[in-house]
Amino acid sequence: MKSGIITIFTLCFSVAVMARKEEELYYSKTQPANLKEEKVTRVGFYLHDILSGKNSSAVRIAHDNLTRDANSPVGFGSLFVMDDPLTLGPEIHSKEIGNGRGMYVSASKEMSKFTIVMYADLTFTTGKFNGSSISIFSRNPVAEEAGEREIAIVGGRGKFRMARGFVKIKTHHIDMKTGDAILRYDATVYHY
Ligand SMILES: *[C@@H]1O[C@H](CO)[C@@H](O)[C@H](O)[C@H]1NC(C)=O
Ligand SMILES: *[C@@H]1O[C@H](CO)[C@@H](O)[C@H](O)[C@H]1NC(C)=O
Ligand SMILES: *[C@@H]1O[C@H](CO)[C@@H](O)[C@H](O)[C@H]1NC(C)=O
Repeated sequence: MKSGIITIFTLCFSVAVMARKEEELYYSKTQPANLKEEKVTRVGFYLHDILSGKNSSAVRIAHDNLTRDANSPVGFGSLFVMDDPLTLGPEIHSKEIGNGRGMYVSASKEMSKFTIVMYADLTFTTGKFNGSSISIFSRNPVAEEAGEREIAIVGGRGKFRMARGFVKIKTHHIDMKTGDAILRYDATVYHY
């Protein structure tokens, strides 16, 4: 009788333990994050987005047949993949400090308001932030204003883990015929 009760008790106990174990398999205990103080770092460079030539850094991988504009390499509905070098100076042969990899899509039906939406990871390959990156997920209103425009930083890796912030972009040079562009990026990165 006594051993029977003990057996039942042991069984219930192991079922409870097993249920707890099972839960613990896919999530941890929720605890305060105790994040360190947030820091800010400013990062500046040039991004070269070269569509023309044999060694282009961005290529169109899809476009819509209906809206395709023969006069524009970047018509509404065009999707590009990019592996754009990031350099210290505006010349392509100035010191390379990283690369921007990802995609952008031409997403404005009004060509006078040429807008792209970018999904990109900018990774640094030298210096203090070697191996760290900032993640861009943003509308980029390329033609909307004359001077400066802004895109959003939504995350990052390495030293920029959990980053947020923004990048001010200025067009240093653009060839409207080919779409080749050299852009000045001034990023303000908040990170831990
Ligand atoms: C092609 O582009 C890559 C990356 O920008 C560069 O390292 C390489 O030197 C270029 N090759 C030629 C032949 O220009
Ligand atoms: C796409 O457009 C081109 C040029 O207007 C046309 O020749 C071709 O048949 C179209 N393709 C499709 C799948 O509609
Ligand atoms: C950057 O990091 C990579 C990977 O850790 C390493 O191979 C490379 O030598 C580093 N470059 C510089 C310039 O520190």
